[in-house]
Amino acid sequence: LDRFCLGFEPQTQKRFTSTTPAIKVQTESKTTKAAKESRTFQAIQEERREQAERSVLISCPPKFNENKFLDYLSKHGTINKHFFYNTYGAYAVVEFSSRESIASLKESTNIPAVEHEAAVPFKSRLLSLKWPGSQSSNHPMPKFQNQSPPSINEITQLLSEKDSIDEQLQCLAEALQLTEENISLRFLVCSLLQDIAGAYFPECIIRPFGSTVNSFGKLGCDVDMILDLNGIYATSQKKGSGLSLEYQVKRGASERAVTQSILSVIGKCVDQFGPGCVGVQNILQARCPLVRFAHQPSGFQCDLTANNRVAMKSSELLFLYGHLDPRVRHLVFSVRCWARAHSITSSIPGAWITNFSLTVMVVFFLQQRNPPILPTLDRLKELAGPSDKCVIEGNDCTIVSDLSKITLQRNTDTSEKLLQEFFEFYGNFPFNKASINIRKGKEQTKPETTALYIQNPFETTLNVSKNVNATQLERFVALCRESAWLLHQKEILNRSSVSPWGFAALLLPSVTSGAGVKSRRKKKLEPASSRIKNLLDSLKIKGGETVAKKGSA
Ligand code: CTP
Ligand code: MG
Repeated sequence: LDRFCLGFEPQTQKRFTSTTPAIKVQTESKTTKAAKESRTFQAIQEERREQAERSVLISCPPKFNENKFLDYLSKHGTINKHFFYNTYGAYAVVEFSSRESIASLKESTNIPAVEHEAAVPFKSRLLSLKWPGSQSSNHPMPKFQNQSPPSINEITQLLSEKDSIDEQLQCLAEALQLTEENISLRFLVCSLLQDIAGAYFPECIIRPFGSTVNSFGKLGCDVDMILDLNGIYATSQKKGSGLSLEYQVKRGASERAVTQSILSVIGKCVDQFGPGCVGVQNILQARCPLVRFAHQPSGFQCDLTANNRVAMKSSELLFLYGHLDPRVRHLVFSVRCWARAHSITSSIPGAWITNFSLTVMVVFFLQQRNPPILPTLDRLKELAGPSDKCVIEGNDCTIVSDLSKITLQRNTDTSEKLLQEFFEFYGNFPFNKASINIRKGKEQTKPETTALYIQNPFETTLNVSKNVNATQLERFVALCRESAWLLHQKEILNRSSVSPWGFAALLLPSVTSGAGVKSRRKKKLEPASSRIKNLLDSLKIKGGETVAKKGSA
């Protein structure tokens, strides 16, 4: 099992230390090595991709015998790993140790006879297990791996049992993060899609990016995918001195037009031939054209893009930041959870702050600590070796890939302190004139008048949060202030005074309902003592019922 993509919390780490050495952030001396041993982001992704190519996804009947099922499959070769989960029915992910097993399995698999309709005879690696009726009863069910995040209620319950806010924040990240199995399933879905796209571009690769791989993914988050055709271009650019041949190709008006036409065709294939793929939407006019669909057997919402290598690089950058210090992930998961609980972020696109923006804001905040907890992007570029050089469409995306080259300064702030200061920092940030810039690790003068300006790490002329309007920014600032204030109340910090307490109390609906400008004005008029009383009363009253209504964040 690979700890890297799980993010390694001390507790989960224990389960895996026998097979893989840990990256250790040492804080005992002034400047120490961030990581003694590490595999690069790319090596980890490659390994997972290769495992997915040796895997199949099998829909199982409501009752079946696990051992018999595995025995049957083992006839085609050794099974490396397998697990079961339940979405719209039971499913098994089975990873063989060699690809030949997949070919052998496919040989013995039938195209179903369909009555009244007709089957598209596409032989994918999404299969159905047919179990003879007479043998289907009285089998113990296999253990199903959970693929959904805990609800706000469950989170509140879980956190209430912890003894410190630091423990709460660590526990939250562990409860929400993608599991090993969920990451494998994500890579498998990409691999299944690659089989479809491969009908046109046999050498294409479909790679996951975004929160699936950047170490900040939460159970239930979408699967962002890139149709990577760059390998195809690379082989076609071999130049010799003598005779050579080149492919005759169709031309499009622009790179964007070609991307749109490729995605529209692949989108059509996914729609008409892709088993389990439903609700396919071509969103080709977006800045980054994409095909959106739901993959029913996995329950994933998928966004397929093409020609989007910079986004892959920014996923690598976040992955790197997420692995330098455990406090980074604790803070990112808690800020994202807090933002979702207060509807600062939303699953619907709009003028809201996105999870990606919030993550960059946390990174920026951690670069501002004294001493800094995270290095600047410029520093990560300085540390890069010759093989790390990477220029994409004129943007220098070079960053160090070897974590062990990064030295961190000693900073012993607790996660609790960092959370409190995060809220204070952004509750008072001069958003009207300053932009957030993780390349320099310093605020810069805002180049334009948008409400929130977060410089895109690699495409430096772009603003990551261009969509955010003044109202949404004001809500964010107001809630930051309120949460900072709450964290100053000793009752909130005391497990026996209020329920829920600590971080869980910050997830309750804002007392200033909506926390807009008006309510902030109102708050100022109230004497502090009555505000505390109101808040604490409301925490006690609302603890049970209001949270229950909110359901999953
Ligand atoms: N991205 C970007 N600029 C943006 C939005 C997104 O570069 N304005 C890139 C980032 O690399 C991001 C990825 O696209 O990680 C996927 O975007 P999105 O799905 O919105 O964010 P995630 O990080 O995947 O977070 P979530 O869990 O909300 O899906
Ligand atoms: Mg995403």
